[in-house]
Amino acid sequence: MIYGVISDVHSNYEALSAVLDYLEDLGVGGWICCGDLVGYGPDPDACLDRIRALPNLSIICGNHDLAVVERLELDWFNQYARAAVMWTREHLSPSNRAYLEGLTARIETPNFTLAHGTPRNPPEEYLLSPLQFRDNVALVNKWPLFVGHSHMPLLFRFVEGSPDQVDTHFLEDKEESLPRLHGGVMGPVALNPGSVGQPRDQDNRASCGLYDSEKGTFRVFRVPYDISGVQAKIRAAGLPEYLALRLAYGQ
Ligand SMILES: [Fe+2]
Repeated sequence: MIYGVISDVHSNYEALSAVLDYLEDLGVGGWICCGDLVGYGPDPDACLDRIRALPNLSIICGNHDLAVVERLELDWFNQYARAAVMWTREHLSPSNRAYLEGLTARIETPNFTLAHGTPRNPPEEYLLSPLQFRDNVALVNKWPLFVGHSHMPLLFRFVEGSPDQVDTHFLEDKEESLPRLHGGVMGPVALNPGSVGQPRDQDNRASCGLYDSEKGTFRVFRVPYDISGVQAKIRAAGLPEYLALRLAYGQ
């Protein structure tokens, strides 16, 4: 099966639409979404309606989704994120709110594991270091582990032939072969497809991934979208100006 992998859409419909159109053309048969569907951006309902219609969808929620449905305190959100959460609460349809309420921040399927941040603290911890990867390995039964939250396209795996060392690197537009154990079972590897709706790696194009479970490969793609159109919507909605500006810089 070929899966389209998306995360951190953050109510950015133009970016979501560009990414889904791009991945659909590559023959995707299933979809993986690592949470933070809403927050920051101006189109929560349009994004949720499109995501909910995806076939063979495995999905979790993120910290912003939990905050919108009042399952996570706003204390540690910065002022811009908090303002967007409050705005989203007022503009989300009852149906989409109920959908978010039904999601969890970590799931395990027969084929892979999803956690928004990390398996040990799914809604809040950012998976950024080799030590964190090592600490979370025992908590995962089905690899690959797909994560989001940091908005950075990243890979974590043990170095082949040197299992004490963790290989951590940024993912660019290049196919990665994933580790296999005896019998062809997928070995420990964590993959972050980057953020669809608010990339933070200085590249303002939407980020997404393609996972081929038969070939055992993962590839990140960057897709241009109408940034100025989203900025205009953010301003028209009365959301903080900073949330419009940062999209142009990819941060
Ligand atoms: Fe996020």
